[in-house]
Amino acid sequence: MASRILTGSSILAASRSALSASKTIPAASIRLLSTYDKHKDTLEALGIHKQNKGVFDGEWKGSGSVMHSVNPVNNEVIAEVTTGSVQDMDTALARVVEAQKLWREYTIPQRGQVLLAMRNALAANLHPLGKLVALEMGKILPEGVGEVQEYVDVLDYALGLSRSMSGSFIPSERPGHAMIETWNPLGVTGVISAFNFPVAVYGWNSAIALVTGNGVLWKPSPTTPLCSIAITKLLEKVLREQNLPTSLCSLVTGGSDVGNKLVTDKRANLISFTGSTAVGRKVGVAVQERFGKHILELGGNNAIIVTEDADIELASRAILFAAVGTAGQRCTTTRRLMVHESVYDTLVGKLQEAYKQVKVGDPLDQGVLCGPLHTKSAVEAYEKALKDIKAQGGEILCGGEVIKTGDLAKGNFVMPTLTKVSPDMDVIKNEVFVPILHTMKFKTFDEAIHMNNNVAQGLSSSVFTSDPAKIFKWIGPAGSDCGIINVNIPTNGAEIGGAFGGEKETGGGRESGSDSWKQYCRRGTCTINYSGQLPLAQGINFG
Ligand code: UN1
Repeated sequence: MASRILTGSSILAASRSALSASKTIPAASIRLLSTYDKHKDTLEALGIHKQNKGVFDGEWKGSGSVMHSVNPVNNEVIAEVTTGSVQDMDTALARVVEAQKLWREYTIPQRGQVLLAMRNALAANLHPLGKLVALEMGKILPEGVGEVQEYVDVLDYALGLSRSMSGSFIPSERPGHAMIETWNPLGVTGVISAFNFPVAVYGWNSAIALVTGNGVLWKPSPTTPLCSIAITKLLEKVLREQNLPTSLCSLVTGGSDVGNKLVTDKRANLISFTGSTAVGRKVGVAVQERFGKHILELGGNNAIIVTEDADIELASRAILFAAVGTAGQRCTTTRRLMVHESVYDTLVGKLQEAYKQVKVGDPLDQGVLCGPLHTKSAVEAYEKALKDIKAQGGEILCGGEVIKTGDLAKGNFVMPTLTKVSPDMDVIKNEVFVPILHTMKFKTFDEAIHMNNNVAQGLSSSVFTSDPAKIFKWIGPAGSDCGIINVNIPTNGAEIGGAFGGEKETGGGRESGSDSWKQYCRRGTCTINYSGQLPLAQGINFG
């Protein structure tokens, strides 16, 4: 996205959350906290007040600047947060390190029981938390609830791992020797999350980090601090009930200074960063510089291919969710649509009809499918993208407008947009984090695969086809070069059971399911000699 291609001296100044710069409003300009009053019961039940402390390291505090969480529906302040300073981050790191020393001694099934208690606490608060996500981030309520459900699901998964996570017993070439692979915790996992999944990104990192025996330090997006405070309060309660040091799940909200501290501090053995490619590149280098480990979940530029033999009805429903869902603010959102020339008019015609039916509005209102963009800067990115499309000879098929009249004018609302472009235009090269879908025609399947792969990013991709030969080509060596390779489903909405992440400029990290847990561990190759002799490997006779 335009806002993702940001430069700046600081490593973290410009993550996805950089969109948010305009969300940090000087204290003097705080307006009526009417959003707070309207949703007081939900917010209070989650422990959110008009003024909040944004640091938790066993106690709630904060000695950094005061930031405001802003409602993207009307740009009113929801609540204030006193964020953390670099000193707060330093202390929090020390406290997570201490807590982890105790946690690592828990057997893995015991850890699983603690995760089960976390799972139950979250499930009991599914709806209020989902509503908070909708309120603070701007996604529609069903997607807000779905996001919290994703955290519940990954805790279920981690519970399963607590009884199944295993190393291997490797055949030794030496008699009387055993070779075993062990997986022990790295220590501390630093999670730097983005605004668009203010709960789930932390969820799928922390659940796996915890079951593998790590402590977790969370630095959330500066524009979604309330979600992180609400989640941390729930975890604090569970940890206290389990007689564990509550600093095991610490939180430091704040800006790039605290982010930099976390990224550059050796005590954070693993940094899991979700955000822009530009910032992720710097984070990766900074973590590598100190030989830390990193998981990078960076920009996507996801495509759907619809072949001549596809179920067009199924495809059009999937595309609508993939391109308009979350107002185009998922890293898995479909941004490019390649359609076989013989079915292009039919499919794009259907989509134009469907786009006209999409209700844009308050994400808490029933029937709304497209909420606001998260910030005003995202609206600017949308406007700039429209200009670029036109300048490069692209056509706007529908949408293409910022909503500037009526009730929605106070918020960051835009119309979901369909364009017609050609594959050589620059506009399709970069991810803009808004609901704009570029459509293109192709003649052969090979050409479509080439178009899919011919961008710098490699997160998610889908083909709609009924031809098994195309399916197997698509998932094979000459197929999609993305981390997520789908058939007859959208690019977004991945389940937690698979490894989530992408190739190329998406960063290469994998989170959540499959064997992603191994990234949160140090691998030990242990050879145990019980023979009483000293046979050497490779048959070497030494002295
Ligand atoms: C993201 O947008 O950062 O596959 C993650 C999906 C979700 C995760 C999205 N499960 O759309």
